[in-house]
Amino acid sequence: MMKSCKHFMGYMADSSKTTMRVVQPYIGFAYNLLTSPREVGAVCPSSPALASVLVDASKACAFKTDGLVIDLGAGSGVVTRKLLERGVPPRSIVAIDRSPSFARVVGKRFPGVAVLCEDAKNLAAAVKSARPGERVKTVISSLPFRSLPGQTRKAVADGIMGVLRQQGGCGCLVQFSYFWWDQYPLARYGFIPRSRRFVFWNVPPAVVEVYTVPE
Ligand SMILES: C[S@@+](CC[C@H](N)C(=O)[O-])C[C@H]1O[C@@H](n2cnc3c(N)ncnc32)[C@H](O)[C@@H]1O
Repeated sequence: MMKSCKHFMGYMADSSKTTMRVVQPYIGFAYNLLTSPREVGAVCPSSPALASVLVDASKACAFKTDGLVIDLGAGSGVVTRKLLERGVPPRSIVAIDRSPSFARVVGKRFPGVAVLCEDAKNLAAAVKSARPGERVKTVISSLPFRSLPGQTRKAVADGIMGVLRQQGGCGCLVQFSYFWWDQYPLARYGFIPRSRRFVFWNVPPAVVEVYTVPE
């Protein structure tokens, strides 16, 4: 009797841990969505399907180069998790989000990954302080680009361009958007459009666009 009771308690503890792991990102997301809707720019965390397309696109684009992968607008850490699952070493990942609560959660969840609570406008300085002397090969951006104020948008685009150009034209930017009818909006900031892919399995469905930078 005692044995089966212990077994049952163990089972309950395990399943509540699993439930918390699944539910926690949604709680954090809802909190941030209520406090800063414009900056979050999404109704729920990115789906694993979207994260897979983002990570696979970045690997295909910058597979020959060495360097850091930046998870920009890391949010609840869905893309960070996928990068680790796809074999990117934690030391090569820098996750950046301006929300302190998101940054705290991602930092706790993924030891070894550099997690910075920073504005994307300060990308170059932030990366330099976390990983001095290292180059960036890919930026995977989940930033709600369209809903950022115009000046912030330009500053962020210039910052991404600055860190990627250090790779001499080999670096790439992967950005997703829910506005799939507006093709390659970052071309306006000098990025070179390379490929786009529609991802149906996300709420809402999204388009993933890949850019490189001029040498
Ligand atoms: C669409 S949500 C994140 C999606 C993420 N892939 C997830 O599933 O949780 C966009 C994220 O960008 C962050 N963000 C918005 N503006 C930012 C800025 N200027 N600098 C850094 N992060 C920013 C928000 O805090 C939010 O976490």
